[in-house]
Amino acid sequence: MAAIIDGKKISQEIKDQVKLEISQLNHELKPGLAVVLVGEDPASMVYVSNKVKACNETGINSFKYELPATTPEAELMNLIDELNNDNKINGILVQLPLPKHINEEAVIKKINPLKDVDGFHPENVGKISIGAEDCFYPCTPYGCQELIYRTVNDIKGKHLVIVGRSNIVGKPLANMMIQKKDRANCIVTVCHTAAKDISVYTKQADILVVAVGYKDTVTGDMVKPGAVVIDVGMNRLPHPDDSNKTKLYGDVDYDSVFPIASAITPVPGGVGPMTISMLMRNTLKAFKIHNNIKN
Ligand code: GUN
Repeated sequence: MAAIIDGKKISQEIKDQVKLEISQLNHELKPGLAVVLVGEDPASMVYVSNKVKACNETGINSFKYELPATTPEAELMNLIDELNNDNKINGILVQLPLPKHINEEAVIKKINPLKDVDGFHPENVGKISIGAEDCFYPCTPYGCQELIYRTVNDIKGKHLVIVGRSNIVGKPLANMMIQKKDRANCIVTVCHTAAKDISVYTKQADILVVAVGYKDTVTGDMVKPGAVVIDVGMNRLPHPDDSNKTKLYGDVDYDSVFPIASAITPVPGGVGPMTISMLMRNTLKAFKIHNNIKN
């Protein structure tokens, strides 16, 4: 039977640590995070309010910008310029997706890479791949890495198999976990939709991360006994017992994998809560970089 990896508890521990460090900062300023929301996408509105709440919990100053869906791209660019030049702001997060008339890539590139606490700017993407210190890991793979570090004792040389090659999870996680520095040093395989049969790869995994956005992508017969399984999926689907309700499913068939794995993240309560905590950690890191504070 697998141990259940308690993302909620670990996420709280990380927020507590960030809060403690902020309370001990001997500095006239506090870390500041700007959160920019364009439009009224309901899921984005919930994410943004949770981010602001986590700032309040940890002692980070939050600056929320809610812009109408019709905001011209140039106006958003001007706001980012202002935030780039504001020393009260250490991190800038533009909630995605943006309305269709705005070029997301151009917006991400506009953010000062040293304030890009989302880790999406091409400069951070490049820095991650060369193992640079002064970069920001995207929050979801950063959360996965933290869960792996806290679950697997001797990671060096373990075979990490990632299902999914997204720019937000699969690719950055592969680049993070292949590094010799830190404690990662994994043998990394990334498999994706071009694989005829992903079970060829998943069955080899000591650590298996699944991030594709489809329920039941991985079932028990596809998992090596004793593997550690991290489920990044967040699939909101009609509830099986009540069509008026929805239910959140991961990408992993929990019931069939649970008896095979040595540890597994539940959905909800696994990777999900970690993302915001890692954002808080990134914002504190940005503050330290900007104010030349060494650990
Ligand atoms: N939308 C969904 N996830 C994310 C995220 O991690 N960062 C941003 N900026 N937008 C998102």
